[in-house]
Amino acid sequence: MKVLVATEKPFSAKAVQGIRERIENAGHTFALLEKYTSPEELRKAAADADALIVRSDIVDAALFNAAPNLKIVVRAGAGYDNIDLKAATAAGAIVENTPGQNANAVAELVIGMAIMAARNKYSGATGFEISGKRLGLQAFGQVSRHVAAIARGFGMDVSAIDPYCPAEVMENNGVKCAASLQDLYAGNDIVSIHIPATPETVGSIGKNLISRLPKGAILINTARKEVINEPELELVLTERPDIKYFADVKPANADVLTEKFADRVFFTPKKSGAQTAEANLNAGLAAADQIVAFFRDGTDRFRVN
Ligand code: 3PG
Repeated sequence: MKVLVATEKPFSAKAVQGIRERIENAGHTFALLEKYTSPEELRKAAADADALIVRSDIVDAALFNAAPNLKIVVRAGAGYDNIDLKAATAAGAIVENTPGQNANAVAELVIGMAIMAARNKYSGATGFEISGKRLGLQAFGQVSRHVAAIARGFGMDVSAIDPYCPAEVMENNGVKCAASLQDLYAGNDIVSIHIPATPETVGSIGKNLISRLPKGAILINTARKEVINEPELELVLTERPDIKYFADVKPANADVLTEKFADRVFFTPKKSGAQTAEANLNAGLAAADQIVAFFRDGTDRFRVN
């Protein structure tokens, strides 16, 4: 079988080497496409591939049409909103992710961003310490659980809300269950967003929630830009000069926000949450192992379609 690793944003060389070894040791053919610049380039490279490993790369109906042999696509990471699941199913391909493999990397970035915002981007202006402050986590999945553990080490008071996670799971992690999403926003000095982008969540975080934040609060988004109502975010940042927005997922109106609120917003130039040597290796090797297992005996534990 031909396994193509197609990553516009490459994995570390060590991760690529590890993936190659696992694929080749299992008797498959390894191919690599990195830093490609157009969907056509991806379609061409995938034309005779049986399996595909991607990151945030767009895998759409056009790609499945151009790659009729594809049997499995593994998103080396958590969020699979970049993959057209219906098109995959229609093409007879299974889709998997590698949940948890890059969670610690993203969690460390969240804490880094919290401190960077609390210290006014290290400008020298008097900031505040995160110790003793309240942290609210919107969703309590793998990334949130790592954030909670690190934040508790800093002496933060952590709460969360997640319709899919029982309160006792939060409590077992030393985290309080917030009474409502509105309360989560109203009752925390720092709120960190960890919901996936789905038809239900897209555009769901707007004025109604952001304007509830207490004075001087920080909103952190390392999840997906689509979950924010960006015009309403701009409106609240205008009305509330005390609020900060730091994101690893650059909003469409990033230039406007940076120009208007230079001291209070920060956006990574390229999504960097999962961009560590460790996360690349964890997610990349997990993806390779999942493909090898699928071709060996049909194992599809992490299937999402
Ligand atoms: C994920 O969903 O796993 C993260 O957003 C990481 O995405 P990336 O692999 O494109 O960096």
